[in-house]
Amino acid sequence: MAPAHIRSAQPAQPVLVCQDVEKLYGTRSNVTRALDGVSFDVAAGEYIAIMGPSGSGKTTLLNCISTIDRPTSGHILVDGQDITALRPGQLSRFRRERLGFVFQDSNLLDTLTARENIALALTINHAPAKEVVARVTGVAERLGVADVLDKFPHEMSGGQKQRVAAARAIVTDPSLVLADEPTGALDSKNSRRLLESLEALNADGATIIMVTHDSFAASYARRALFLKDGRVWNEIVRGDKTRKAFFDEIMDVVSFLGGEGADVR
Ligand SMILES: Nc1ncnc2c1ncn2[C@@H]1O[C@H](COP(=O)(O)OP(=O)(O)O)[C@@H](O)[C@H]1O
Ligand SMILES: [Mg+2]
Repeated sequence: MAPAHIRSAQPAQPVLVCQDVEKLYGTRSNVTRALDGVSFDVAAGEYIAIMGPSGSGKTTLLNCISTIDRPTSGHILVDGQDITALRPGQLSRFRRERLGFVFQDSNLLDTLTARENIALALTINHAPAKEVVARVTGVAERLGVADVLDKFPHEMSGGQKQRVAAARAIVTDPSLVLADEPTGALDSKNSRRLLESLEALNADGATIIMVTHDSFAASYARRALFLKDGRVWNEIVRGDKTRKAFFDEIMDVVSFLGGEGADVR
């Protein structure tokens, strides 16, 4: 007789699949191969750091995943849908419904309060008012910004703004949270606080891809992917290791690769 709970042997569909992604810039006489056949998968609930020296293709890769840029060839699938095939009219809806963004600078709208900034994505999607209130309050509490909800960006610290930006990124419950150097403009105390927040979001199930040149920031992820000259050069997994041990391992790769990110904190 069959046991009570049989789970499908079929592994869960990855949230993100990059298949042989190439991105060329420039003209025929002066081509930059920013991405040179990048392939990797991200499963639901993963937290990945994308690292690599300056010019290795990190931002280009993130821009291709976020549909800000389009690969020259190859495919990128999000929830099984090939986003390289989306028409311009479908792109904004895709971004709004599936993605959450955290940038180096919080990119909050100056004339809106934190509450209004966070609620904006929901309002655009015509969420019912009651749901907006509940969701905004929920994410603000998770990110420790409930006390600044009625403040304007200029009344908040850099760290508070970044946590509000993170709250805005996750309020729609996106398939993927994309962060490009989210701690880049923060001091070490606020960096730590933001990284702890992202770690907690991931523990609650959010799938996060963070581009960073900072080994300390990367050590909060569960997996680190290293780009070099537009290719995936190496990948290390945190597994059961402590964050400190993972940090040391990341540092070894970074110093081997050379370039930025070699500052120890
Ligand atoms: N819009 C562009 N036009 C031409 N070359 C570009 C453009 N964007 C990036 N590149 C080039 O592509 C390569 C990868 O850049 P980028 O993705 O910004 O690297 P990273 O974020 O790792 O520093 C670099 O050689 C860069 O000069
Ligand atoms: Mg970059």
